[in-house]
Amino acid sequence: MSKIPVEVKDKSSKKKTGGPAGTEAMVPIFVMGKRYEVPASLTIQKALEYAGYQLVRGCGCRGGICGACGTVYRFPGSYRIEVGLACQTVVEPDMYITQIPFFPANKAVYDIEKLEPTGSTVAALYPEIFKCVGCGTCTRSCPMDIDVMEYISRAIRGDVAGAAELSFDCVMCGLCSARCPAEEAQYNIGILCRRLYGRHIAPRAKHVNKVVDLIEKGKFQKGLEKLKRMKMAELKKIYNEREIEPDMAEEYWEPEDKTFIIVE
Ligand code: SF4
Ligand code: SF4
Ligand code: FES
Repeated sequence: MSKIPVEVKDKSSKKKTGGPAGTEAMVPIFVMGKRYEVPASLTIQKALEYAGYQLVRGCGCRGGICGACGTVYRFPGSYRIEVGLACQTVVEPDMYITQIPFFPANKAVYDIEKLEPTGSTVAALYPEIFKCVGCGTCTRSCPMDIDVMEYISRAIRGDVAGAAELSFDCVMCGLCSARCPAEEAQYNIGILCRRLYGRHIAPRAKHVNKVVDLIEKGKFQKGLEKLKRMKMAELKKIYNEREIEPDMAEEYWEPEDKTFIIVE
């Protein structure tokens, strides 16, 4: 997060979000210790930008998916450190805010092709997993409401598929790890389990194999070459005229032109 040399001073002359100019309540927040007045309806991310910060790190999708905007905050008089995603959390008066766009957790290096999908593999790559004290701080810290402690517990028990399933919604924000007294790298353990599951446990998708086979045999090559030779206007025309699945499709729908689709 870098500060651009423009400071917002005259807040009264600014257009306020969510209503006519000048009508929205302002709240004080503290960013890395410095006080700013920002519109009360803004997310932390938008409030930071309103205050003049240019987010070159700690900001990605702006929609709660990429996990880049992990943020910690606290209110005066409270000992409690709160956490959230800056793009999803609305500001509250007197929040003391700092972003943690990256947390330096342990990250094992491996070749997924060479690993066995077992608890021993997880334990060998992340031996610290056994230091978990079961405090549940990770679960309470997770902005995605994942039961982090439980997926770590499943990984400890060698239930790789279970850990993969429970950690599926992880956005890799690192907040669980930042708060763990046992210095676990929960999110890296979760993604290891998902990779092990995807590569070695999940049944292969036959239809994907079939399409890959057809690609390798050049079924789509002629069509691709044709597209590459088209002018922009022609491309737009065929795009706009393409067959589209109706909003209220029957249970099974397929286009009339089956040149490039695989029909079972
Ligand atoms: S915060 Fe760390 S020690 Fe506590 S339950 Fe989660 S992984 Fe275990
Ligand atoms: S499991 Fe950890 S890294 Fe993943 S979303 Fe939850 S807090 Fe973020
Ligand atoms: S910017 Fe992607 S989760 Fe917040």
